[in-house]
Amino acid sequence: MTSALELRHYGHDDLSEIRQTLIGVHADVHAERMADDEFRQKFPWFVDHWGSNPGFSCVIAYDGDEPAGFTYGAPGPEGREWWREHLDPAPEMPRTFHFSELMVREPWRKTGTAERLHRALMDARDEPRAALLVDVTHPKVEALYASWGYRKVGEDQPFPDSPVYAVMIADLPLR
Ligand SMILES: CC(C)(COP(=O)(O)OP(=O)(O)OC[C@H]1O[C@@H](n2cnc3c(N)ncnc32)[C@H](O)[C@@H]1OP(=O)(O)O)[C@@H](O)C(=O)NCCC(=O)NCCS
Repeated sequence: MTSALELRHYGHDDLSEIRQTLIGVHADVHAERMADDEFRQKFPWFVDHWGSNPGFSCVIAYDGDEPAGFTYGAPGPEGREWWREHLDPAPEMPRTFHFSELMVREPWRKTGTAERLHRALMDARDEPRAALLVDVTHPKVEALYASWGYRKVGEDQPFPDSPVYAVMIADLPLR
């Protein structure tokens, strides 16, 4: 199944082309809990928010015409990088890519697709580091990110209705 996977890169100018694909993959991945989860229902708002950033960067994995998963992020605003409250002193080169989303549909889980997507996204960046937020109640996902080179530097809750997140950073380029 994965041998046919093709990874395609997209940017800010492609948002209207890929928007429905991202929303469709998200709805599939979170189908069971969407109805009673107000935070997840806001996903289209988040897609538009991230996609409106001129530095938005997205990779979608296709198995033929089927989207298998995607990942995206954008440069963190200077002074408001996710690690700001947690790293003292701040790194000499503060530029940070905010790795916002990674989702892989069930048939393509445990196939290396998630790691390939992440690496493809990061290999296209020139920032010295990436940062991510992962729900603290998902320790297995946190462990997955640790295995990809991330380390936890603190915890945050960016919105009152959002989960508490572990803040993790990784040096770029990835090893
Ligand atoms: C995160 C993801 C891309 C990883 O894909 P993968 O590399 O193929 O790895 P897996 O799907 O096997 O996930 C690794 C482990 O984390 C667990 N996990 C994954 N997503 C999880 C979630 N949202 N909540 C709780 N546990 C989760 C898996 O059950 C798995 O545990 P297991 O080894 O006991 O089976 C994929 O699981 C996914 O799309 N999850 C849903 C979306 C998501 O949570 N994205 C991350 C947001 S920070």
